[in-house]
Amino acid sequence: MYEPTIDFIRSIYGSERVIPLHEPRFIGNEKKYLNDCIDSTFVSSTGKFVDEFEEKIAKYTGAKYAVATSNGTSALHIALLLANVAKNDEVITQPLTFVATCNAISYCGANPIFIDVDKETMGLSPLSLQAYLKKNAFIKNQQCINNNTGRVIKACVPMHSFGQPCRIDEIKEICEKYHISLIEDAAESLGSFYKNKHTGTFGQMGIISFNGNKIITAGGGGCIITDDETLAKKAKHLTTTAKVPHKWKIAHDAIGFNYRMPNLNAALLVAQLEQLDGFLENKRLLANKYKEFFKKSDIMFVTELENSKSNYWLNTIILKDRQQRDLLLDEANSKGVMVRPIWVLMNKLSIFKNAQNGDLTNTEWLEQRVVNIPSSVTI
Ligand SMILES: Cc1ncc(COP(=O)(O)O)c(C=O)c1O
Repeated sequence: MYEPTIDFIRSIYGSERVIPLHEPRFIGNEKKYLNDCIDSTFVSSTGKFVDEFEEKIAKYTGAKYAVATSNGTSALHIALLLANVAKNDEVITQPLTFVATCNAISYCGANPIFIDVDKETMGLSPLSLQAYLKKNAFIKNQQCINNNTGRVIKACVPMHSFGQPCRIDEIKEICEKYHISLIEDAAESLGSFYKNKHTGTFGQMGIISFNGNKIITAGGGGCIITDDETLAKKAKHLTTTAKVPHKWKIAHDAIGFNYRMPNLNAALLVAQLEQLDGFLENKRLLANKYKEFFKKSDIMFVTELENSKSNYWLNTIILKDRQQRDLLLDEANSKGVMVRPIWVLMNKLSIFKNAQNGDLTNTEWLEQRVVNIPSSVTI
């Protein structure tokens, strides 16, 4: 039944092999910089590539500072700690996300509250956020208190799903009104902008992932971006085992983390970053091809909002219902075209079964219907 869709994807990626959902492209200076890095012997957490990468990613995103980390999850963990998220605090996020978002909240001893997403963006809905807080929270001593638990709602972590920016300016306004720190999970959205501003730069801090499936990758890697110099300095300190700077003395002034990105990974990323504009252009062409193709079918292709620029990291389609979704998933995967549904929603995982939820109508609607289709750069 979905032969035309599968054939169309094969016409883009070739007919012979298994077509992955998203594979990396190493077609620039990756090997050269890796060799330079190995020759320098600075393969670990100090070296010129880490510094260069931080400078370049800050410049690209327009953030004043960037701190490179071992992965996106560790970046989120540190960002939440720096937002003073602590044991028994509560953190608002969306149930439609990768588990790392919620894991990082749990590492701090805090509990997630799941709020609905928008149908169009698949990211946190400002309307639902506002409605939840209006009904369930009040402000006392400049803190947002949850009526039901008496606990502090310390932070909010919206996620830009599959690279589509959520309505982040409205979310920011609500967070400010309620004294909630805004940390953006921009793990998937390097190269995505909302109203001409890069995703991840609206909140106090944002994080990006460079995992193997992301638009640029070093196998593993992440970063925190922020305009706040104090937070950036603290982030660097905490991610480098809180070592007190000194020529030869080795001392630490806090329980720190070994979360710094190794120079080897940074060497790869500097090379990947040089190709980002080309990757983005290529992905936009691919998204346009998909858009034209699905116009002629009863499958909806998810496009960016008028005031957004998506990186189209993972192209997304919406099927009529769950049955149609499962038919496509079965047919395409059995024919070697990798397509996948949304993650099992966070509120449905046993590890978060006791979490509080708002109304999740849109999230559940999307869960039944959304499929990600092959999205690798085609060059
Ligand atoms: C939404 C989201 N948040 C966080 C992460 C964690 O990033 P990492 O895998 O680099 O730890 C990822 C992806 O991997 C992600 O997709």
